[in-house]
Amino acid sequence: MQPLGFRVRVFLVALLPWALVGCDNSTAATDRETTETALLPTARYTPRTDFLVIAIPEGAPTHWHAPGYPPTRSLRLYPQGPDADLVAELRKQLNKNILDPTDPNLLQPVQADRIQRLLEAYFGTPAVPRVTMPPWDTVVATATVRFDPQKRLGTLLKSAQSRLRSFKWDLWHEDWQAATTAHNALHLDSATLARGSLVYRRWCMQCHGPTGAGEPAHAVVNGPMPRDYRQGLFKYTSAFPPANVKKKGQGAAGKPLRADLARVIRTGIDGTIMPAFPTLSPQELEDVVSYVIHLSIRGETEFATMAKITHVSKLTEDDPDFFGGELDWLFLQNYLGVLINWGIAAQNPIPIPPEPFKGDEERIDSAIRGFRLYQSAEFGCASCHADYGRAQQLKWDAWGTIVQPRNLTLGVYRGGRRGEDLYARLYGGIVPSGMTAFHEQLKKTAAGAPDPLWDIVHFLQALGDPRDRRRMQEKDPTIRFDP
Ligand code: HEC
Ligand code: HEC
Repeated sequence: MQPLGFRVRVFLVALLPWALVGCDNSTAATDRETTETALLPTARYTPRTDFLVIAIPEGAPTHWHAPGYPPTRSLRLYPQGPDADLVAELRKQLNKNILDPTDPNLLQPVQADRIQRLLEAYFGTPAVPRVTMPPWDTVVATATVRFDPQKRLGTLLKSAQSRLRSFKWDLWHEDWQAATTAHNALHLDSATLARGSLVYRRWCMQCHGPTGAGEPAHAVVNGPMPRDYRQGLFKYTSAFPPANVKKKGQGAAGKPLRADLARVIRTGIDGTIMPAFPTLSPQELEDVVSYVIHLSIRGETEFATMAKITHVSKLTEDDPDFFGGELDWLFLQNYLGVLINWGIAAQNPIPIPPEPFKGDEERIDSAIRGFRLYQSAEFGCASCHADYGRAQQLKWDAWGTIVQPRNLTLGVYRGGRRGEDLYARLYGGIVPSGMTAFHEQLKKTAAGAPDPLWDIVHFLQALGDPRDRRRMQEKDPTIRFDP
């Protein structure tokens, strides 16, 4: 039980967000926005209106989308717009794997408005970006008081008191501390973010969009969309959170290390339209990495909050109706969860053992073992990469866009071509693209036996090189690379 003084303080602190965010519903803000969007210092991040894809859609796309029209954009334009057949498939998953935050029956305008105000209070604007870490008092107050000007003060006080009594101090304090630690480690101070925002607007925004949504205009055929950061999911990461970590929100899978983001930006993504940025100074690179993380944390908090409210079929009797202070608390929980997940990823880099061969002959022997593993039912690579990936087998990904298991004969690797990069890809999979993680196979390997993942890496490298392929076949004539 906490002393009365603390409880009073908590109640007063609870009113802070209302002082900060306000509760009027006037349209003054939107008017201002339309006349001033050209002037960046007052520009705001726009509210999210596109579909929320909360799980990889079922089924598989039958063809590539029309250029400039990623499937979820066509879904918004339905029944106009191209690719009616793709959209028909996606429409079957509405309210299951795909949610619509613009449906006023699911997300009411006052809720959308409140989310927007909270986002601005926590994350600022493009010219003045920030990632605000709330003090502990604010967390307790938001959790327990849940102030709502629509409700009577007496009712509020009563339920606040009972919530204070059952509040899990230790658990939430632990979470708040984990979030604070992650926040500090991620370099999210306002000065860094302001510099990063400038770099981003100059070099990245045309493809990734002002909020990090990914510009549909750049939805090229046979290529991935510019990354939508707002799901907090990335492909080329070398972090792998263990499965036994208690799940917070969306979970920590698919979160990168800062070093992963820096590498992708510095070297570009081979085989896609994402360019390399060799001319950024080390400082600019670090700044823009922070800014991408800012957009991602902001976007994922918005995504998770909207998804919770609009996923009506998943709401239980215990879920409140998410207005006023209830919405603030939902938002704050999501925000802490997102930060904690970034922290978990940072603490769990994939343990990549040093490359285990001594000479070129051993590398080819290892590649031959890797070839067998590739064919084995245990690894089942060919179930997705049929004919070594030369066969086109399109799939949906976590954004509801289209992905194609890589053609592995070309030797073009998006996540980096070093052995370590490919090792990380196999160890942790490619989460948002649905590629399997193979780290479990390591546990089944006897001590002293060759590392199966390194064998497959050597096979992949040999597969992408005609001379190595010939050498493998000279050593073992049963090996075939045709379909
Ligand atoms: C010409 C368009 C274009 C520009 C400009 C561009 N990108 Fe990208 N970016 C892409 C595409 C396309 C992808 C998706 C690649 C994929 O899915 O394999 C991507 C992916 C990414 C990713 C995700 C990597 C991952 O592991 O999932 C990050 C981070 C990123 N870009 C950051 C940046 C930054 C920062 C800049 C500016 C310095 C930038 N991009 C400029 C097109 C672009
Ligand atoms: C469940 C389907 C699935 C399975 C099983 C699978 N992959 Fe993949 N793989 C994919 C998809 C999809 C992509 C493309 C991801 C993207 O572009 O976003 C991919 C991409 C890759 C890449 C490209 C990485 C890069 O940096 O560009 C490699 C290499 C790869 N897979 C190797 C393998 C190997 C080896 C196996 C078996 C040990 C395997 N995959 C099993 C679906 C799968």
